[in-house]
Amino acid sequence: MTRHLKMDEPATNRLLDKLPSRLTGAPMDRPDGPLKVSGTATYAHEWQLDGKVFGVLARAPVSKGKLVRIDKSAIENLPGVLGVFSEERFLRNPAQGMANEAPEQGVSEISYFGQPIALVVAETFEQARHGAHRLELVCEAASDGVFDPEANNIAPEKPEDDQLDQGDLDKAMAEAAYTVDSTYRTPSHNSAAMEPHCAIASWEGDQLTLYASYQMIKFNVNELADSVGIEPEKVRIVSPYVGGGFGSKLGIAPEAVSAAIAAKELGRPVCVTLTRQQVFENVMRRSESRQRLRLAADKDGKLTGLGHECRVSNLPGESFHEPVLQATHFIYGGDNRRLGMEVARLNRMCAGSVRAPGEAIGMQVLENAMDELAHTSGIDPVELRKRNIPDAHPEEGTPYSSRPFAEALDEGAKRFGWNKRNPKPGQQREGEWLIGMGMAAAARVNILMESKARVILKEDGKAIVETDMTDIGTGTYAILTQVCADMLGLEPENIETRLGDSNFPKASGSGGSFGAASSGSSVYLACLDIRAELARRLGCEESELQLDSGQARGGSKSGSLTGLLAGEAIEAEGHIEPGETKEKVKQATYGSYFAEVAVNAVTGETRVRRMLGVFGAGRILNRKTATSQCYGGMTWGIGMALHEAMEFDMRDGHVVNNDLAEYHIPVNLDVPQLDVVLLEERDDWASPIQAKGLGELGLCGAGAAITNAIFNATGVRVYDYPATLDKILDGLPELDMV
Ligand code: MOS
Repeated sequence: MTRHLKMDEPATNRLLDKLPSRLTGAPMDRPDGPLKVSGTATYAHEWQLDGKVFGVLARAPVSKGKLVRIDKSAIENLPGVLGVFSEERFLRNPAQGMANEAPEQGVSEISYFGQPIALVVAETFEQARHGAHRLELVCEAASDGVFDPEANNIAPEKPEDDQLDQGDLDKAMAEAAYTVDSTYRTPSHNSAAMEPHCAIASWEGDQLTLYASYQMIKFNVNELADSVGIEPEKVRIVSPYVGGGFGSKLGIAPEAVSAAIAAKELGRPVCVTLTRQQVFENVMRRSESRQRLRLAADKDGKLTGLGHECRVSNLPGESFHEPVLQATHFIYGGDNRRLGMEVARLNRMCAGSVRAPGEAIGMQVLENAMDELAHTSGIDPVELRKRNIPDAHPEEGTPYSSRPFAEALDEGAKRFGWNKRNPKPGQQREGEWLIGMGMAAAARVNILMESKARVILKEDGKAIVETDMTDIGTGTYAILTQVCADMLGLEPENIETRLGDSNFPKASGSGGSFGAASSGSSVYLACLDIRAELARRLGCEESELQLDSGQARGGSKSGSLTGLLAGEAIEAEGHIEPGETKEKVKQATYGSYFAEVAVNAVTGETRVRRMLGVFGAGRILNRKTATSQCYGGMTWGIGMALHEAMEFDMRDGHVVNNDLAEYHIPVNLDVPQLDVVLLEERDDWASPIQAKGLGELGLCGAGAAITNAIFNATGVRVYDYPATLDKILDGLPELDMV
């Protein structure tokens, strides 16, 4: 049995609100939690396979040029070394994320420093690492590498589908009562997932099994099959636990392809685990950006013009560019609009999706500009944003689906005590600390993806959920169990949710915040089908059926679930597909951030004292895991505001700070108790379970609340992220130190 739904119409039935069991939304503990804290959840590197050997990538010593030859003489007699593998297939599908074309070039063409060239395989990891260090890669270096995205000699590409010119922005700027014209810069970021990338490849005949750590299994199967040159049916990927992805595990990567090729030739399972330095140098970075914001407003602060023009970068030939303008298109009004995108081609590691690609830095900077406008016009920042909420999409004219934006702004202001803020900068002081408050709006596009799941109601009245959906730390095991529990009237203990195996029905995967709503909908649909069958057996209408604690009731009939099953399992597949609702309305998620900071008047150091996020993302499937996503997002916001930046050597484009000692992410002491409020919302247009994406919303502007608070505390506006001490110190007011 299959229940298929194409999302062409809003789902107004809201069945999940009518069921007797209301586990969906509750802060249920993760079923996988005990396994994870006891070390018994098997992560990619931990699979024990007979005869397993280890591979370590050897990487390009030049930033641009050609590989002439590989000299193996230095490692041929090293103990334990089993072979060196290098070929074009390594890079057919580098880790670029979704829907990208593979570049034409193979490994003989080197386009960035540290590019994987060869895999050295040995009996132990240490032997392989030694071999990889000793292996000589003879390269011919080209002298025309480009490393600086703002170098004068760059002719950036302008992707056609990411330009907008509407009305006359220059005229709007000239006639406006208030204007802002500011240029901001944001640095490259690393996803810094806790689990380094790993793949173990194992062949049985022509059948390849990959134990790995990936976010999007059904795509990863195709990518791996394509890279290795076999049929997708011959590939199985197993990825039940993923120690964080944040985009870095969206696409198949060199560790998987090289492991598969080496394992085939050696006839033994090959494990390739990246070191932290390799994660920094070979996994995608978020592009740095230069963003020029122009705002034109009338005397009431209403936008008449909005300009957002940016430059990002990537390797030559890569189709991805950071979609910085994504939320700028729809969050605020303003008839005269110019949105532009430029891509500089650099010989730096690949740029790709890093958590909340686009909005993470686009909203951050837009919200700084809005703060500038609030300051210039003397209008309160919360009020200014509310005045600019458009009635319809300012470019397409479409209406919005559920949009609790004003509510998030008001609720946040009320809870945070925003009315205590002095709008004049530099007025509040505690000893040598200057105190300030700032706020920013949050917005992120909402996406529904095709997704399938199987639900089996077994003869004993317990259920199994199977889908190749992944849980990248987000709580998928929990939420799918909860939806199934409510739909079938079962205790969560009686449901086993199995994920991350390509043998299961093909899901959306985890990316773009679409995982929970998409895979949750597929489980919902499978359960609908099972409910229909149970209603038929009981002899009642589907709409009358009540399932609760193993009992079925409907019309005047009742019976036990096991009685209705009569010794036979019922199996159903749910299949959700996006449809016309994505065109008929603009679907997005919204929120607000409020932060209080203390900036040290002597050192320029910023400490975040309090931070609140208020978010609306449709139906919340699990308040605990959803809140954790927001904590994580806001913590990224603190990192983006104050700490995080990948530094590139401008001579050869290599990553200078390639580990967690030198790439500074916020640690416990940098993060105060964060407060998260999830608004009660149902978006009927988004999915049959009225849920939208949440995973990335927590950092779609969060950093701006902090830098806006720094301005309120000190009067210093930081245009070049992150707001480190050196950028604040010079602008600080003279203080009488007691
Ligand atoms: Mo996300 S950056 O689409 O995993």
